[in-house]
Amino acid sequence: MRRSIITGTGSCLPGKILTNDELSAMVDTSDEWITTRTGIRARHIAADGEYTSHLATTAARRALDAAGTRPQDIDLIVLATSTPDQTFPATAATVQAELGITNTCPVFDLQAVCSGFVYALTTADAFLRSGQATRALVIGAETFSRILDWDDRGTCVLFGDGAGAVVLEAGEGRGDVSDRGILAARIHADGRQRDLLYVDGGPSTTQTTGFLRMKGREVFRHAVTRIAEVMKEVMEDAGVSADDIALFVPHQANIRILEGTAKKIGIPSEKVFITLDRHGNTSAASIPLALDEAVRTGRARPGDLLLLEAMGGGFTWGAALIRL
Ligand code: ACO
Repeated sequence: MRRSIITGTGSCLPGKILTNDELSAMVDTSDEWITTRTGIRARHIAADGEYTSHLATTAARRALDAAGTRPQDIDLIVLATSTPDQTFPATAATVQAELGITNTCPVFDLQAVCSGFVYALTTADAFLRSGQATRALVIGAETFSRILDWDDRGTCVLFGDGAGAVVLEAGEGRGDVSDRGILAARIHADGRQRDLLYVDGGPSTTQTTGFLRMKGREVFRHAVTRIAEVMKEVMEDAGVSADDIALFVPHQANIRILEGTAKKIGIPSEKVFITLDRHGNTSAASIPLALDEAVRTGRARPGDLLLLEAMGGGFTWGAALIRL
C-alpha cells in the first residue's frame, strides 16, 4: 500500500521576541492574565521586510537538508497560509523560485487558517497515494502579526509568526498500523460559523488586508468538541487507541484547549507537546514548528505514532495520525 512518509522536518522563527510584559506596555493587559488564560509567555514577530515566503523558504531548506533531498527532486509544494506575501501569485511560487526548483512541478497555497497544515498534509497525501506526485514539500507559514489589530487586547496577545515544513515521500507499506507514514487523516469544515473568527477585509470586499476579529469564548466552546470528535475519527480509521499514541502534537492555540482535548481523548499531559508558551498561536505554522522541535529534541523518534489536530477559522478542523 502506498504511504506518504515524513522524511525530514524544518522550521524557522523570526529573531524578534515579544514578551507578555512588553505587550503590557502596548495594551491594557498583564503577563498574569495572558499566561493563566492562554499559556502564552512570548511570541516571535517578523521584522520589517521579513515575509511569509522568507520564513517558509528557510523552513523548507531545513526540511530538505534533514531529508537529504535535493530541491530539484521535489514534485509538489503545498503551502498553507492565511498571510501570503501577495494576493497572488501564491507564496508557494515564490518558495519554488527561491529554492531554485525549475522542474515545473505544481505548487499552490492552501487557506484553511489554523487548520491549514492538516489540510495541506491531507491534500499532499492524496496526491502521493494517487501517484500524481512522489516527493512533496508541505509547509505552514504565517506572519499573523501583519493582520492583528494591535489595539485589540482580546486578539493581539494570542498570535505570533513562524514557519514549519516537512518533506513527504511516497513509499510502500504493508497496509497496517505498523507502516511508517500517514495512517489516517480527516478534514472538515462548517461555513455557518465563519463569523466567529475572520478577517474584516479582503481584495473583493474592502480592497484592504483587514484585521483579525474573533469571538474568543464561542471559538473556545466549539474547538474542544470538534477537535475531540475528529481525533476519535482518525483513531478509529487506523484502529488505534489513545495508549498507542507516543506524542500528541496539537495546533498551539490555547493551553486550556490542548489540555481539554487531550483529557477528553485520554492522552496524559506528559504526551502533549507544547511550544505555545514560546511561539503563541502561529496558525498554519504551529504544528510543523512543534513537530520539528519534537524531532530535533528527540521527543519524537522514528517509529513513534503521532497524533496531530487543528481547528481554525471557517470553521475548519482536522486531524492526522502519522508514524514517523
Ligand atoms: N488582557 C486582559 N483582559 C482581557 C484581555 C487581555 N489580553 N483580553 C480580554 N480581556 C478581558 C475582556 O475584555 C473581558 O473583560 P470584561 O469581563 O470586563 O468584559 C474579560 O477579559 C473576559 O473576556 P473573554 O473574552 O470572555 O475571556 P475568556 O476567558 O474567554 O478568554 C480567550 C479569552 C483567551 C481569547 C479565550 O476565549 C480563548 O482562548 N478562546 C479561543 C480562541 C483561540 O484560541 N483562537 C485562536 C484561533 S482558533 C484556534 O486556533 C482554535
